Amino acid sequence: MKIVVIQGPNLNMLGIREQNIYGPMKLDDIHAQMEAFAKQNNVEIEFFQSNLEGEIVDRLQECLGDATGIIINPAAYTHTSIAIRDAISAIQIPTVEVHLSNIHQREEFRHTSLTAPVCAGQIVGFGPFGYHLAMLSVIQIMNEVKALQEQQQGQEAKVALQNK
Ligand code: DQA
Repeated sequence: MKIVVIQGPNLNMLGIREQNIYGPMKLDDIHAQMEAFAKQNNVEIEFFQSNLEGEIVDRLQECLGDATGIIINPAAYTHTSIAIRDAISAIQIPTVEVHLSNIHQREEFRHTSLTAPVCAGQIVGFGPFGYHLAMLSVIQIMNEVKALQEQQQGQEAKVALQNK
């Protein structure tokens, strides 16, 4: 099982930007905590941050045939990017959207997420702990998908035996 974590624009500025909204924690520190939790759960994890929309689309496409789960904070692109939404929709890999702040309590333009409708779920307003919740959710979904695949393979094998 492999999770790819994708961080959008200005999240490289965590710990510097608007600490009253996003808190004091740096992105590297959030990732270090996620890495430790992934290790405990025998899950491979990879991190990617970009300020460019096209690079995020490319990274999502690269997940195809590689990642089994995705955690994404598209940051400001959440509210504007049809391209990122289409990429998430195209690859059909369970994806959880995270926002550090509660976007629904903030300016009106942040209330709409173009990406959330093509994600398995959205976690908002819990600060860095939201990434931990997202990992729990993605691991749960990946386990369910794996169990389903194993069940289907078992059934296929049974049918193949019966048809021998
Ligand atoms: C954010 C919320 C977005 O509205 C904003 O543009 C960000 C960060 C969050 O994590 O709370 O850059 O995605």
